[in-house]
Amino acid sequence: MALARFNPDRGSVRGYRRSHPLAYIIRELPARLEALAPDLRCTANGRLLDYGCADVPYRRLFPKSVEYLAADLPGNPNANVTINPDGSVPLDEASVDAILSTQVLEHVADPGLYLSECRRVLKPAGRILLSTHGFMVYHPDPVDLWRWTSAGIREAIERAGMRVVCFEGIMGLTASGLQLVQDGIRYRLPARLRPAFCAAMQTLVAVADRHESDESRNRNALVFALIAEKPASI
Ligand SMILES: C[S@@+](CC[C@H](N)C(=O)[O-])C[C@H]1O[C@@H](n2cnc3c(N)ncnc32)[C@H](O)[C@@H]1O
Repeated sequence: MALARFNPDRGSVRGYRRSHPLAYIIRELPARLEALAPDLRCTANGRLLDYGCADVPYRRLFPKSVEYLAADLPGNPNANVTINPDGSVPLDEASVDAILSTQVLEHVADPGLYLSECRRVLKPAGRILLSTHGFMVYHPDPVDLWRWTSAGIREAIERAGMRVVCFEGIMGLTASGLQLVQDGIRYRLPARLRPAFCAAMQTLVAVADRHESDESRNRNALVFALIAEKPASI
């Protein structure tokens, strides 16, 4: 169905076109994740878990020498760790230095369990870089279960026993509103008009977002990205 061609999670810059219905966010999200990645503090000889890796789009953000554990549900040929049927990971407690979790939490049946697994496998003072959706349109892959507010995602992280150390919204309220208007209208248009419509809307989205304050964007956004830390001592 149409949504399969309209997947907001394919956050790589590969295949980026100005008329893509998500042109702005698929440019902004990887750029923001790249800017945040050094704050994960994963050293060149560190061990990193990419928890819900799909096609491992962010491997390039880390040195080749990093031991990269790409974990996913059974059947993903890109994964070198298979997630257990209950959603836990077959890794020892306090066994990884850093975790990457990009556009996964909204697809996970039990976000509390997922986040507590993150805390369990992180070493003391280890960090997680997590991004997930605020206002994003519904997009099953294969399921799409949750959306977060800025306060809600912080609360979920803190309940899991980690402390948020960096937080940002990506694509603020006005831009997200324009995005949703586009998403609601574009399938009603004749197919030949859609690229021009999306190109115009994505230009408006970019202009609107340029005029949003960081403070506003950190409250309301299409996507939230954060870094959180496990306590140094338990
Ligand atoms: C939309 S993709 C995101 C993939 C990748 N992280 C990215 O940024 O492109 C969501 C991924 O989460 C995985 N996933 C779904 N449920 C999961 C769970 N309970 N635990 C871990 N990963 C899960 C899916 O298999 C899929 O690879």
